[in-house]
Amino acid sequence: MRTRLAIFASGSGSNAENIISYFRDSQEVSISLILTNNPSAGVIERADRLGIECCVFSKEEFYSSKRIQNLLKEREVDFVVLAGFLLLVPPSLIQTYKGKIINIHPALLPAFGGKGFYGDRVHAAVLESGQSMSGISIHHVTEKFDEGGIIFQAACHVDRKDSIKSLALKIHALEYKFFPVVLEKMISVQNAPHE
Ligand code: GRF
Repeated sequence: MRTRLAIFASGSGSNAENIISYFRDSQEVSISLILTNNPSAGVIERADRLGIECCVFSKEEFYSSKRIQNLLKEREVDFVVLAGFLLLVPPSLIQTYKGKIINIHPALLPAFGGKGFYGDRVHAAVLESGQSMSGISIHHVTEKFDEGGIIFQAACHVDRKDSIKSLALKIHALEYKFFPVVLEKMISVQNAPHE
């Protein structure tokens, strides 16, 4: 039985597309659903083009109804991935997917994480600080922003001539290279028979 993934995204969704492409011919993993809280997110067009079901929901529904939980259950989703998703995940969802809900953050946590650190704001803060390294962090999701246990990190150099745009490109390259591979590894460990 293939492990069924749902991907939550609030923006462009290039990581979502990269994950979908990576697992396209996989016998172990399939992408069941894309979910977004943003009705104008680029990820909606990507889902449409890639033939993946996409659910657009409101913040109110997310926190005050069972619509999303029920949909994940109906689609028999086993594992949840946040890829550029900007809302906190409600405790009930975290409980349901304990150890099976992960996020990617575009910096080396715990630095440059937490409320307000998202997207280009993260890169702007890194550049402002004068740090010579940045990178990506893949981590478990908790009820707070960017605080769950770190699963994987990869770093890149920040050059003095880097702009927000050039740093974002380096970070995205790391995300595309490592996120699907780390996901695949996590899923295969979880699915391995216990001794
Ligand atoms: C990524 O850099 C991710 O780390 C961060 O938001 C960005 C989303 O980019 N959380 P995209 O929507 O996948 O293109």
